[in-house]
Amino acid sequence: MAQNQLWGGRFTQPTDKFVQEFTASIDFDKRMYRYDIQGSIAHCRMLAKQGIIAAEEAKTIVAGLEGILADIEAGNFEFSVALEDIHMNIEARLIERIGPVGGKLHTARSRNDQVALDVRLYLRDELKAILAYLGQLQESLLAQAEQNLAVIMPGYTHLQTAQPVLFAHHMLAYYEMMKRDAGRMMDVAKRLNVLPLGAGALAGTTFPIDREFVAEQLGFDGVTRNSLDSVSDRDFAIEFCAAASILMMHLSRLSEELILWSSADFNFIELTDAFCTGSSIMPQKKNPDVPELVRGKTGRVYGNLISLLTLMKSLPLAYNKDMQEDKEPLFDSIDTVKGSLKIFADMIALMKVKAENMRVAAARGFSTATDVADYCVRKGLPFRQAHEVVGKTVRYCVETGKDIPELSLEEFRRFSPLIENDIYDFVTLEASVNARRATGGTARAAVEREIARARAERRG
Ligand code: ARG
Repeated sequence: MAQNQLWGGRFTQPTDKFVQEFTASIDFDKRMYRYDIQGSIAHCRMLAKQGIIAAEEAKTIVAGLEGILADIEAGNFEFSVALEDIHMNIEARLIERIGPVGGKLHTARSRNDQVALDVRLYLRDELKAILAYLGQLQESLLAQAEQNLAVIMPGYTHLQTAQPVLFAHHMLAYYEMMKRDAGRMMDVAKRLNVLPLGAGALAGTTFPIDREFVAEQLGFDGVTRNSLDSVSDRDFAIEFCAAASILMMHLSRLSEELILWSSADFNFIELTDAFCTGSSIMPQKKNPDVPELVRGKTGRVYGNLISLLTLMKSLPLAYNKDMQEDKEPLFDSIDTVKGSLKIFADMIALMKVKAENMRVAAARGFSTATDVADYCVRKGLPFRQAHEVVGKTVRYCVETGKDIPELSLEEFRRFSPLIENDIYDFVTLEASVNARRATGGTARAAVEREIARARAERRG
Protein backbone atom coordinates (compact mmCIF):
# COMPACT_ATOMS: atom_id res chain seq x y z
CA MET A 1 0.00 0.00 0.00
CA ALA A 2 1.45 3.34 -1.06
CA GLN A 3 -0.49 5.52 1.31
CA ASN A 4 -2.73 5.12 4.33
CA GLN A 5 -6.17 4.98 2.76
CA LEU A 6 -7.85 6.31 5.88
CA TRP A 7 -6.11 9.68 5.75
CA GLY A 8 -3.97 9.71 2.60
CA GLY A 9 -6.14 12.19 0.68
CA ARG A 10 -4.07 15.32 1.15
CA PHE A 11 -0.71 13.57 0.70
CA THR A 12 1.26 13.22 -2.49
CA GLN A 13 4.10 11.09 -1.13
CA PRO A 14 3.88 7.90 0.90
CA THR A 15 5.05 7.92 4.51
CA ASP A 16 8.67 7.01 5.00
CA LYS A 17 8.88 3.38 6.03
CA PHE A 18 10.76 4.03 9.23
CA VAL A 19 8.55 6.98 10.13
CA GLN A 20 5.62 4.62 9.76
CA GLU A 21 7.16 2.19 12.22
CA PHE A 22 8.27 4.94 14.53
CA THR A 23 4.85 6.56 14.76
CA ALA A 24 2.81 3.37 14.94
CA SER A 25 1.24 2.22 18.19
CA ILE A 26 -0.33 -1.00 16.96
CA ASP A 27 2.25 -3.20 18.68
CA PHE A 28 1.03 -2.07 22.08
CA ASP A 29 -2.47 -0.69 21.54
CA LYS A 30 -3.77 -3.85 19.88
CA ARG A 31 -4.53 -5.18 23.34
CA MET A 32 -7.49 -2.75 23.39
CA TYR A 33 -9.17 -4.38 20.37
CA ARG A 34 -12.18 -5.62 22.30
CA TYR A 35 -12.92 -2.18 23.69
CA ASP A 36 -12.37 -0.49 20.37
CA ILE A 37 -14.99 -2.77 18.84
CA GLN A 38 -17.34 -2.45 21.80
CA GLY A 39 -17.14 1.35 21.52
CA SER A 40 -17.64 1.27 17.76
CA ILE A 41 -20.73 -0.90 18.04
CA ALA A 42 -22.29 1.46 20.57
CA HIS A 43 -21.38 4.45 18.40
CA CYS A 44 -22.82 2.79 15.30
CA ARG A 45 -26.13 1.97 16.98
CA MET A 46 -26.40 5.57 18.09
CA LEU A 47 -25.74 6.81 14.53
CA ALA A 48 -28.62 4.66 13.29
CA LYS A 49 -30.94 5.66 16.10
CA GLN A 50 -30.30 9.31 15.28
CA GLY A 51 -30.88 8.74 11.57
CA ILE A 52 -27.29 9.69 10.76
CA ILE A 53 -26.84 6.35 9.01
CA ALA A 54 -29.49 3.90 7.87
CA ALA A 55 -30.57 1.03 10.12
CA GLU A 56 -29.54 -1.46 7.44
CA GLU A 57 -26.11 0.10 7.22
CA ALA A 58 -25.72 -0.09 10.98
CA LYS A 59 -26.64 -3.75 10.92
CA THR A 60 -24.01 -4.47 8.30
CA ILE A 61 -21.38 -2.53 10.23
CA VAL A 62 -22.16 -4.22 13.56
CA ALA A 63 -22.06 -7.65 11.94
CA GLY A 64 -18.75 -6.75 10.34
CA LEU A 65 -17.31 -5.59 13.65
CA GLU A 66 -18.49 -8.75 15.38
CA GLY A 67 -16.85 -10.79 12.66
CA ILE A 68 -13.59 -8.92 13.19
CA LEU A 69 -13.79 -9.50 16.93
CA ALA A 70 -14.21 -13.23 16.32
CA ASP A 71 -11.27 -13.20 13.90
CA ILE A 72 -9.00 -11.45 16.37
CA GLU A 73 -9.96 -13.79 19.22
CA ALA A 74 -9.30 -16.75 16.94
CA GLY A 75 -5.89 -15.37 15.98
CA ASN A 76 -7.00 -14.78 12.38
CA PHE A 77 -6.22 -11.12 12.14
CA GLU A 78 -3.06 -9.63 10.80
CA PHE A 79 -2.20 -6.36 12.47
CA SER A 80 -0.45 -3.94 10.19
CA VAL A 81 2.08 -1.31 11.18
CA ALA A 82 1.17 0.61 8.04
CA LEU A 83 -2.27 1.12 9.56
CA GLU A 84 -0.65 2.74 12.59
CA ASP A 85 -2.99 1.86 15.43
CA ILE A 86 -5.76 -0.44 16.58
CA HIS A 87 -8.47 2.00 15.50
CA MET A 88 -7.35 2.15 11.88
CA ASN A 89 -6.47 -1.53 11.73
CA ILE A 90 -10.03 -2.41 12.65
CA GLU A 91 -11.64 0.25 10.49
CA ALA A 92 -9.62 -0.69 7.41
CA ARG A 93 -10.47 -4.35 7.92
CA LEU A 94 -14.14 -3.42 8.28
CA ILE A 95 -14.12 -1.63 4.93
CA GLU A 96 -12.32 -4.57 3.36
CA ARG A 97 -14.96 -6.89 4.75
CA ILE A 98 -18.20 -5.03 4.11
CA GLY A 99 -17.26 -2.49 1.48
CA PRO A 100 -17.58 1.31 1.41
CA VAL A 101 -20.45 1.33 3.91
CA GLY A 102 -17.81 0.49 6.54
CA GLY A 103 -16.49 3.99 5.94
CA LYS A 104 -19.62 5.38 7.57
CA LEU A 105 -18.65 4.12 11.02
CA HIS A 106 -16.25 6.96 11.62
CA THR A 107 -18.97 9.59 11.09
CA ALA A 108 -19.17 12.03 14.01
CA ARG A 109 -16.06 10.56 15.59
CA SER A 110 -12.32 11.09 15.66
CA ARG A 111 -9.53 8.85 16.75
CA ASN A 112 -8.95 11.42 19.46
CA ASP A 113 -12.20 10.75 21.27
CA GLN A 114 -12.07 7.11 20.22
CA VAL A 115 -8.74 6.46 21.91
CA ALA A 116 -9.84 8.33 25.02
CA LEU A 117 -12.83 6.01 25.15
CA ASP A 118 -10.87 2.81 24.53
CA VAL A 119 -8.35 3.49 27.26
CA ARG A 120 -11.12 4.20 29.77
CA LEU A 121 -13.00 1.03 28.87
CA TYR A 122 -9.83 -1.02 29.02
CA LEU A 123 -8.70 0.35 32.37
CA ARG A 124 -12.20 0.00 33.79
CA ASP A 125 -12.13 -3.75 33.14
CA GLU A 126 -8.58 -4.16 34.39
CA LEU A 127 -9.53 -2.37 37.59
CA LYS A 128 -12.11 -5.06 38.22
CA ALA A 129 -9.43 -7.73 37.88
CA ILE A 130 -7.05 -5.80 40.13
CA LEU A 131 -9.73 -5.39 42.79
CA ALA A 132 -10.43 -9.12 42.65
CA TYR A 133 -6.74 -9.93 43.19
CA LEU A 134 -6.55 -7.37 45.98
CA GLY A 135 -9.46 -9.16 47.61
CA GLN A 136 -7.63 -12.48 47.31
CA LEU A 137 -4.53 -11.06 48.96
CA GLN A 138 -6.63 -9.59 51.76
CA GLU A 139 -8.18 -13.01 52.18
CA SER A 140 -4.74 -14.65 52.46
CA LEU A 141 -3.59 -12.12 55.04
CA LEU A 142 -6.74 -12.61 57.03
CA ALA A 143 -6.44 -16.40 56.91
CA GLN A 144 -2.83 -16.19 58.16
CA ALA A 145 -4.03 -13.99 61.02
CA GLU A 146 -6.79 -16.44 61.93
CA GLN A 147 -4.54 -19.50 61.75
CA ASN A 148 -1.83 -17.96 63.91
CA LEU A 149 -3.78 -16.12 66.54
CA ALA A 150 -1.58 -17.31 69.41
CA VAL A 151 1.74 -16.54 67.73
CA ILE A 152 3.79 -13.75 69.29
CA MET A 153 6.58 -12.06 67.39
CA PRO A 154 8.86 -9.14 68.10
CA GLY A 155 7.47 -5.81 66.98
CA TYR A 156 10.16 -3.44 65.74
CA THR A 157 10.94 0.21 65.48
CA HIS A 158 14.20 1.08 63.72
CA LEU A 159 14.32 -2.68 63.11
CA GLN A 160 15.29 -2.98 66.78
CA THR A 161 13.15 -5.15 69.02
CA ALA A 162 10.53 -2.85 70.51
CA GLN A 163 7.50 -4.61 71.97
CA PRO A 164 5.99 -8.03 71.45
CA VAL A 165 3.03 -8.13 69.05
CA LEU A 166 0.78 -10.81 67.67
CA PHE A 167 1.83 -12.09 64.27
CA ALA A 168 -1.87 -11.79 63.41
CA HIS A 169 -1.70 -8.09 64.24
CA HIS A 170 1.22 -7.73 61.85
CA MET A 171 -0.72 -9.47 59.06
CA LEU A 172 -3.72 -7.25 59.69
CA ALA A 173 -1.54 -4.16 59.27
CA TYR A 174 -1.10 -5.18 55.64
CA TYR A 175 -4.79 -6.00 55.41
CA GLU A 176 -5.49 -2.37 56.29
CA MET A 177 -3.05 -1.13 53.65
CA MET A 178 -4.69 -3.31 50.99
CA LYS A 179 -8.06 -2.01 52.05
CA ARG A 180 -6.96 1.56 51.42
CA ASP A 181 -5.41 0.48 48.13
CA ALA A 182 -8.73 -1.04 47.10
CA GLY A 183 -10.45 2.21 48.07
CA ARG A 184 -8.08 4.16 45.85
CA MET A 185 -8.68 1.80 42.93
CA MET A 186 -12.45 2.13 43.35
CA ASP A 187 -12.00 5.86 43.35
CA VAL A 188 -10.15 5.71 40.04
CA ALA A 189 -12.88 3.49 38.60
CA LYS A 190 -15.57 5.88 39.72
CA ARG A 191 -13.97 9.03 38.34
CA LEU A 192 -12.99 7.53 34.99
CA ASN A 193 -16.48 6.27 34.33
CA VAL A 194 -17.68 9.04 32.00
CA LEU A 195 -17.98 8.87 28.23
CA PRO A 196 -15.53 11.06 26.24
CA LEU A 197 -16.89 9.98 22.85
CA GLY A 198 -18.68 12.77 21.03
CA ALA A 199 -15.87 15.25 21.52
CA GLY A 200 -14.78 14.59 17.97
CA ALA A 201 -11.28 15.75 17.17
CA LEU A 202 -11.51 18.50 19.77
CA ALA A 203 -14.51 20.81 19.28
CA GLY A 204 -17.47 18.45 19.19
CA THR A 205 -19.34 17.32 16.11
CA THR A 206 -21.76 18.84 13.61
CA PHE A 207 -23.92 15.70 13.62
CA PRO A 208 -26.97 15.34 15.88
CA ILE A 209 -25.47 12.64 18.10
CA ASP A 210 -26.89 11.30 21.36
CA ARG A 211 -23.99 10.92 23.75
CA GLU A 212 -26.16 9.86 26.68
CA PHE A 213 -27.40 6.91 24.65
CA VAL A 214 -23.84 5.77 23.95
CA ALA A 215 -22.91 6.27 27.61
CA GLU A 216 -25.80 4.12 28.70
CA GLN A 217 -24.93 1.32 26.29
CA LEU A 218 -21.36 1.28 27.54
CA GLY A 219 -22.22 1.40 31.22
CA PHE A 220 -20.90 4.89 31.90
CA ASP A 221 -22.37 7.01 34.67
CA GLY A 222 -22.51 10.05 32.43
CA VAL A 223 -20.75 12.01 29.70
CA THR A 224 -17.78 14.39 29.84
CA ARG A 225 -18.75 18.05 29.76
CA ASN A 226 -16.05 19.67 27.64
CA SER A 227 -14.81 18.39 24.32
CA LEU A 228 -11.31 19.88 24.62
CA ASP A 229 -10.87 18.28 28.01
CA SER A 230 -12.40 15.00 26.82
CA VAL A 231 -9.72 14.35 24.22
CA SER A 232 -6.79 15.64 26.26
CA ASP A 233 -7.52 14.36 29.76
CA ARG A 234 -5.34 11.52 30.95
CA ASP A 235 -5.85 12.18 34.66
CA PHE A 236 -7.50 8.81 35.10
CA ALA A 237 -4.38 7.02 33.84
CA ILE A 238 -2.18 9.11 36.12
CA GLU A 239 -4.46 8.49 39.08
CA PHE A 240 -4.29 4.80 38.42
CA CYS A 241 -0.49 4.88 38.21
CA ALA A 242 -0.38 6.83 41.48
CA ALA A 243 -2.66 4.35 43.23
CA ALA A 244 -0.61 1.52 41.73
CA SER A 245 2.59 3.10 43.04
CA ILE A 246 1.23 3.30 46.57
CA LEU A 247 0.02 -0.28 46.34
CA MET A 248 3.43 -1.46 45.13
CA MET A 249 5.08 0.53 47.90
CA HIS A 250 3.02 -1.52 50.35
CA LEU A 251 3.90 -4.77 48.61
CA SER A 252 7.57 -3.78 48.65
CA ARG A 253 7.43 -3.37 52.42
CA LEU A 254 5.82 -6.77 52.82
CA SER A 255 8.39 -8.16 50.38
CA GLU A 256 11.22 -6.77 52.43
CA GLU A 257 9.83 -8.34 55.58
CA LEU A 258 9.33 -11.71 53.93
CA ILE A 259 12.91 -11.59 52.68
CA LEU A 260 14.23 -10.75 56.13
CA TRP A 261 11.99 -13.28 57.85
CA SER A 262 13.02 -16.11 55.57
CA SER A 263 16.73 -15.48 56.15
CA ALA A 264 18.63 -17.86 58.43
CA ASP A 265 19.16 -15.01 60.87
CA PHE A 266 15.46 -14.32 61.44
CA ASN A 267 14.08 -17.71 60.46
CA PHE A 268 10.48 -16.65 61.17
CA ILE A 269 8.79 -18.08 58.11
CA GLU A 270 9.25 -20.49 55.27
CA LEU A 271 8.04 -19.70 51.79
CA THR A 272 6.98 -22.79 49.89
CA ASP A 273 9.50 -24.17 47.42
CA ALA A 274 7.27 -23.26 44.49
CA PHE A 275 7.91 -19.58 45.20
CA CYS A 276 11.67 -19.79 45.62
CA THR A 277 14.69 -20.77 43.56
CA GLY A 278 18.03 -22.30 44.36
CA SER A 279 21.55 -21.16 43.68
CA SER A 280 23.59 -22.79 40.95
CA ILE A 281 26.71 -22.69 43.12
CA MET A 282 25.58 -22.72 46.78
CA PRO A 283 23.55 -25.87 47.35
CA GLN A 284 22.13 -24.76 50.71
CA LYS A 285 20.36 -21.73 49.30
CA LYS A 286 16.69 -21.13 48.84
CA ASN A 287 16.18 -17.63 47.56
CA PRO A 288 12.97 -15.62 48.07
CA ASP A 289 12.87 -14.56 44.42
CA VAL A 290 9.20 -13.65 44.31
CA PRO A 291 9.26 -11.01 47.05
CA GLU A 292 12.61 -9.77 45.75
CA LEU A 293 11.17 -9.30 42.28
CA VAL A 294 8.06 -7.58 43.55
CA ARG A 295 10.29 -5.27 45.58
CA GLY A 296 12.23 -4.57 42.39
CA LYS A 297 9.15 -4.11 40.22
CA THR A 298 7.98 -1.38 42.56
CA GLY A 299 10.62 0.81 40.90
CA ARG A 300 9.18 0.45 37.43
CA VAL A 301 5.67 1.22 38.65
CA TYR A 302 6.95 4.45 40.24
CA GLY A 303 8.78 5.12 36.98
CA ASN A 304 5.56 4.72 35.01
CA LEU A 305 3.87 7.32 37.17
CA ILE A 306 6.71 9.78 36.61
CA SER A 307 6.65 8.99 32.86
CA LEU A 308 2.97 9.85 32.62
CA LEU A 309 3.22 13.00 34.69
CA THR A 310 6.15 14.15 32.60
CA LEU A 311 4.42 13.18 29.37
CA MET A 312 1.41 15.33 30.19
CA LYS A 313 3.35 18.23 31.63
CA SER A 314 2.82 21.49 29.71
CA LEU A 315 0.98 19.88 26.80
CA PRO A 316 -1.19 22.50 25.13
CA LEU A 317 -4.85 21.64 24.55
CA ALA A 318 -6.13 19.51 23.03
CA TYR A 319 -4.84 16.19 21.63
CA ASN A 320 -1.12 15.89 20.93
CA LYS A 321 0.60 12.87 19.46
CA ASP A 322 2.75 12.80 22.58
CA MET A 323 -0.25 11.26 24.27
CA GLN A 324 0.14 8.05 22.33
CA GLU A 325 2.99 7.44 24.78
CA ASP A 326 0.49 7.09 27.62
CA LYS A 327 -0.24 3.46 26.89
CA GLU A 328 2.97 1.58 27.58
CA PRO A 329 3.50 2.97 31.09
CA LEU A 330 -0.16 2.48 31.91
CA PHE A 331 -0.26 -1.07 30.55
CA ASP A 332 2.99 -1.94 32.26
CA SER A 333 1.67 -0.76 35.63
CA ILE A 334 -1.54 -2.72 35.12
CA ASP A 335 0.36 -5.90 34.24
CA THR A 336 2.87 -5.49 37.04
CA VAL A 337 0.29 -4.80 39.74
CA LYS A 338 -1.94 -7.63 38.60
CA GLY A 339 0.90 -10.11 38.50
CA SER A 340 2.32 -9.02 41.83
CA LEU A 341 -1.04 -9.25 43.59
CA LYS A 342 -1.83 -12.64 42.12
CA ILE A 343 1.47 -14.16 43.12
CA PHE A 344 1.37 -12.59 46.58
CA ALA A 345 -2.13 -13.87 47.27
CA ASP A 346 -0.92 -17.44 46.70
CA MET A 347 2.45 -17.02 48.36
CA ILE A 348 1.00 -15.53 51.56
CA ALA A 349 -1.65 -18.23 51.73
CA LEU A 350 1.02 -20.94 51.57
CA MET A 351 3.58 -19.28 53.86
CA LYS A 352 4.61 -21.37 56.87
CA VAL A 353 4.98 -19.58 60.18
CA LYS A 354 7.71 -20.65 62.59
CA ALA A 355 5.94 -19.74 65.79
CA GLU A 356 8.63 -20.93 68.18
CA ASN A 357 11.38 -18.91 66.52
CA MET A 358 9.24 -15.80 66.55
CA ARG A 359 8.53 -16.31 70.22
CA VAL A 360 12.19 -16.77 71.13
CA ALA A 361 13.05 -13.60 69.22
CA ALA A 362 10.20 -11.72 70.88
CA ALA A 363 11.59 -12.59 74.29
CA ARG A 364 15.00 -11.23 73.35
CA GLY A 365 15.88 -7.56 73.37
CA PHE A 366 13.99 -6.63 76.56
CA SER A 367 10.78 -6.32 74.65
CA THR A 368 8.72 -6.01 77.84
CA ALA A 369 10.71 -3.08 79.24
CA THR A 370 7.87 -0.65 78.46
CA ASP A 371 5.56 -2.88 80.48
CA VAL A 372 7.77 -2.46 83.55
CA ALA A 373 7.70 1.30 83.04
CA ASP A 374 3.90 1.28 82.66
CA TYR A 375 3.72 -0.83 85.84
CA CYS A 376 5.67 1.80 87.78
CA VAL A 377 3.43 4.52 86.39
CA ARG A 378 0.37 2.68 87.61
CA LYS A 379 2.04 2.61 91.03
CA GLY A 380 2.23 6.39 90.96
CA LEU A 381 5.63 7.18 89.38
CA PRO A 382 5.66 9.87 86.66
CA PHE A 383 6.37 8.23 83.29
CA ARG A 384 9.70 10.03 82.76
CA GLN A 385 11.03 8.70 86.08
CA ALA A 386 9.68 5.25 85.30
CA HIS A 387 11.54 5.38 81.98
CA GLU A 388 14.75 6.12 83.91
CA VAL A 389 14.14 3.25 86.34
CA VAL A 390 13.68 0.76 83.54
CA GLY A 391 16.61 2.14 81.59
CA LYS A 392 18.81 1.31 84.55
CA THR A 393 17.17 -2.09 84.93
CA VAL A 394 17.92 -2.90 81.29
CA ARG A 395 21.52 -1.78 81.66
CA TYR A 396 21.80 -4.14 84.65
CA CYS A 397 20.32 -6.96 82.55
CA VAL A 398 22.84 -6.30 79.78
CA GLU A 399 25.72 -6.35 82.26
CA THR A 400 24.56 -9.54 83.99
CA GLY A 401 23.34 -11.28 80.86
CA LYS A 402 19.82 -11.67 82.24
CA ASP A 403 16.42 -11.06 80.72
CA ILE A 404 13.79 -8.90 82.44
CA PRO A 405 11.43 -11.71 83.49
CA GLU A 406 14.44 -13.59 84.98
CA LEU A 407 15.26 -10.88 87.53
CA SER A 408 14.48 -11.66 91.15
CA LEU A 409 12.18 -9.34 93.05
CA GLU A 410 15.21 -8.13 94.99
CA GLU A 411 16.98 -7.22 91.78
CA PHE A 412 13.89 -5.39 90.50
CA ARG A 413 13.60 -3.46 93.75
CA ARG A 414 17.15 -2.14 93.44
CA PHE A 415 15.75 0.19 90.82
CA SER A 416 12.41 1.03 92.39
CA PRO A 417 10.86 0.14 95.73
CA LEU A 418 7.47 0.42 94.03
CA ILE A 419 8.01 -2.94 92.34
CA GLU A 420 6.30 -5.86 94.03
CA ASN A 421 5.76 -9.52 93.42
CA ASP A 422 2.92 -8.91 90.96
CA ILE A 423 5.49 -7.53 88.47
CA TYR A 424 5.80 -11.07 87.11
CA ASP A 425 2.18 -10.86 85.93
CA PHE A 426 3.17 -8.02 83.62
CA VAL A 427 6.46 -8.99 82.04
CA THR A 428 5.53 -12.17 80.19
CA LEU A 429 5.03 -11.92 76.44
CA GLU A 430 1.35 -12.78 76.73
CA ALA A 431 0.78 -10.21 79.47
CA SER A 432 2.56 -7.54 77.48
CA VAL A 433 0.54 -8.27 74.34
CA ASN A 434 -2.79 -8.66 76.07
CA ALA A 435 -2.43 -5.47 78.04
CA ARG A 436 -2.87 -3.48 74.82
CA ARG A 437 -6.57 -3.87 74.58
CA ALA A 438 -7.82 -0.57 73.19
CA THR A 439 -9.12 -0.58 69.61
CA GLY A 440 -6.26 -1.08 67.21
CA GLY A 441 -3.95 -2.59 69.84
CA THR A 442 -2.24 -5.95 69.67
CA ALA A 443 -4.12 -7.70 72.52
CA ARG A 444 -5.63 -10.95 71.38
CA ALA A 445 -9.12 -9.71 72.20
CA ALA A 446 -8.56 -6.54 70.15
CA VAL A 447 -7.13 -8.49 67.23
CA GLU A 448 -10.04 -10.92 67.32
CA ARG A 449 -12.41 -7.98 67.11
CA GLU A 450 -10.59 -6.68 64.03
CA ILE A 451 -10.61 -10.10 62.41
CA ALA A 452 -14.36 -10.29 62.95
CA ARG A 453 -14.76 -6.82 61.50
CA ALA A 454 -12.65 -7.74 58.47
CA ARG A 455 -14.61 -10.94 57.98
CA ALA A 456 -17.86 -8.99 58.02
CA GLU A 457 -16.38 -6.52 55.52
CA ARG A 458 -15.35 -9.31 53.17
CA ARG A 459 -18.80 -10.82 53.27
CA GLY A 460 -19.79 -7.39 52.05
N1 ARG B 1 -2.78 6.02 18.24
C1 ARG B 1 -3.22 7.29 18.69
C2 ARG B 1 -2.98 7.43 20.21
O1 ARG B 1 -2.79 6.44 20.82
C3 ARG B 1 -4.68 7.47 18.43
C4 ARG B 1 -5.10 8.88 18.28
C5 ARG B 1 -4.46 9.47 17.08
N2 ARG B 1 -4.97 10.73 16.76
C6 ARG B 1 -4.37 11.51 15.87
N3 ARG B 1 -4.89 12.64 15.63
N4 ARG B 1 -3.25 11.15 15.30
O2 ARG B 1 -2.99 8.50 20.75
